[in-house]
Amino acid sequence: ARISCGLIDPDGGKLVELFVKESQKDAKKREALPLPSIRLSNIDLQWVHVLSEGWASPLKGFMREPEFLQTLHFNSLRLGDGSVVNMSVPIVLAIDDSQKERIGRESSVALLDDQNNPIAILKDIEIYKHNKEERIARTWGTTAPGLPYVEEAITNAGNWLIGGDLEVIEPVKYHDGLDRFRLSPSELRDEFTKRNADAVFAFQLRNPVHNGHALLMIDTRRRLLEMGYKNPILLLHPLGGYTKADDVPLSWRMKQHEKVLEDGVLDPETTVVSIFPSPMHYAGPTEVQWHAKARINAGANFYIVGRDPAGMGHPLEKRDLYDADHGKKVLSMAPGLERLNILPFKVAAYDKTQRKMAFFDPSRPQDFLFISGTKMRTLAKNRENPPDGFMCPGGWQVLVDYYDSLALS
Ligand code: ADX
Repeated sequence: ARISCGLIDPDGGKLVELFVKESQKDAKKREALPLPSIRLSNIDLQWVHVLSEGWASPLKGFMREPEFLQTLHFNSLRLGDGSVVNMSVPIVLAIDDSQKERIGRESSVALLDDQNNPIAILKDIEIYKHNKEERIARTWGTTAPGLPYVEEAITNAGNWLIGGDLEVIEPVKYHDGLDRFRLSPSELRDEFTKRNADAVFAFQLRNPVHNGHALLMIDTRRRLLEMGYKNPILLLHPLGGYTKADDVPLSWRMKQHEKVLEDGVLDPETTVVSIFPSPMHYAGPTEVQWHAKARINAGANFYIVGRDPAGMGHPLEKRDLYDADHGKKVLSMAPGLERLNILPFKVAAYDKTQRKMAFFDPSRPQDFLFISGTKMRTLAKNRENPPDGFMCPGGWQVLVDYYDSLALS
């Protein structure tokens, strides 16, 4: 018999958590006070959140140069025992010349939130060059102007990176009414255990759930039951960090996801909805590895991947930035992800003959309608309805309400 306590092990064997003990909080705050300090941007803070809860386990803080180089060149880290874990996007903290000067020969710095409260100490620091062009080219495969994360967090960032071990004094909270959905990997593992999951399958998303997405999740559940699992649990895991301006904001997506469960598209009994705190890079096949790796740490042993994961349109040309099939191909071969069962899916589109979302059948392309994110947004903005069966009515209404709220403001 399968035992339900057998969730997949975190990368590196043990889940990293970087919080100081409750009893040490005050002492740590006093320790932080005289240190040179770095005020964090919103995205920096999101990375502190990610690191603190162990999504990037076994990483213990912002990357030092050896980790940065392994990430850029190998999309993976080699651990002390010779084993390899996946790590495809740099998790780094940039500082400028004057900050570097102020830090001088100190070995620790304090990290401040936007109220200038110390929320963490970075220890045994290493400062090294931030070659932005090389970082961008290797992470995105292009330096074309207009990459959202680059413009938001790299172009105007400092020319140095500071790495070190993190000691987090205050857990990162957003006070936006959604913190209760932000379960840490450890909390998610507890939840899966409580639910007696014998398999956990993760679905990463940054868009509203349409019935094509649902098809992937429902089909996965069917396949897992066929394989003999008795209680597969779905982790519906919307990304909650930075997203580009024309993506639907997290609070509206969460309302939309709630409707999808209410309308019975997905089953609340076998679904855990939670927020993944990472910012979004839109780095396609490179980034999808990060998305998958982080979910291992949260206890998922199956990972769904479909068309063009973490992709976007090319910022200058009229085409997708990445080959829509490369994400799933790369994921199936990625170093350090061998333990994760990748579930690759064909593209889903609206089948006009069945009046529902279905897997695209290349033998009868004329029967299918592709409704891109842009197309979906345009419809909702103009208060036009998508074809019946594209999205549950309650979910669609949330999108219409969102675009109405934009028009009013
Ligand atoms: S992502 O940036 O989070 O990857 P999105 O929210 O659009 O983007 O997609 C979530 C997941 O659904 C990804 O695995 C993606 O490949 C998959 N997906 C999105 N649209 C389709 C589609 N039409 N057919 C198949 N898979 C899809």
